[in-house]
Amino acid sequence: MKLIVAPDYAGICEKAADIFAAEIHRNPACVLGLATGSTPVGLYQALIRRYQEGALDFSKVQTFNLDEYCGLAGDHPQSYRYFMQKNLFDHVNIPLEHTYIPSGIADDPEQECRRYDALIESCGGIDIQLLGIGHNGHIGFNEPDDHFPVGSHLTRLAESTIQANSRFFASESEVPTHAITMGAGSILKAKKILLMASGEGKAEILCRSMTGPVTPFVPASVLQLHRDVVILADEAAASLIRKQIQPSDE
Ligand code: GLP
Repeated sequence: MKLIVAPDYAGICEKAADIFAAEIHRNPACVLGLATGSTPVGLYQALIRRYQEGALDFSKVQTFNLDEYCGLAGDHPQSYRYFMQKNLFDHVNIPLEHTYIPSGIADDPEQECRRYDALIESCGGIDIQLLGIGHNGHIGFNEPDDHFPVGSHLTRLAESTIQANSRFFASESEVPTHAITMGAGSILKAKKILLMASGEGKAEILCRSMTGPVTPFVPASVLQLHRDVVILADEAAASLIRKQIQPSDE
């Protein structure tokens, strides 16, 4: 596991953009695993800027998002499809049909999960998976549980996640209670994993996930089992973990 510490949020976004840009240059038809939440927004802005400057071409890139709320159609302003359109896809030259997000309104969510896993496989798997981290250690919507789900699955959101995400909705009661998410196993299959964390509020869970026991009760701890994980943290988020993991000089 490599820890890269930048002075601030803007710094981790630029470093993450460097890693994504290098991958797109290396393989213009790469498969990117994308995430939502507030943490990746600055990265997406950096990628848009580089595209506008002519430094990036998304025409052959394919993307798979981690998760989607159940019950929200793609045109709902709080759906993750809508988030991705507004924060990235509408501003770069990625073909819409190259962007995959589970459907939140599938009649049969279990079947939608199998379809999604098969799609990822058929595209050759994910080259770089981007992750944020929830305050309870969730990645995607893999919530604390007594086991690590392997593939994409229907999940019930933890109360703390519903509360945290209610900031994007008019009220807590409007936050969907369920979601479809890639599983811990799907995430571990990615060739490279990039986890971004920003702010003091993430310091404790970041440290516990990366240096504590591997347990499904702290879902992000499963990342300790992957051979190529890069943690991109700003000074505030890295304040505890850097006492245990030496930051890389990059
Ligand atoms: C959501 C997403 C996660 C994300 C998390 C943290 O619940 N499903 O993928 O990592 O929120 O969000 P933020 O970056 O806003 O702290």
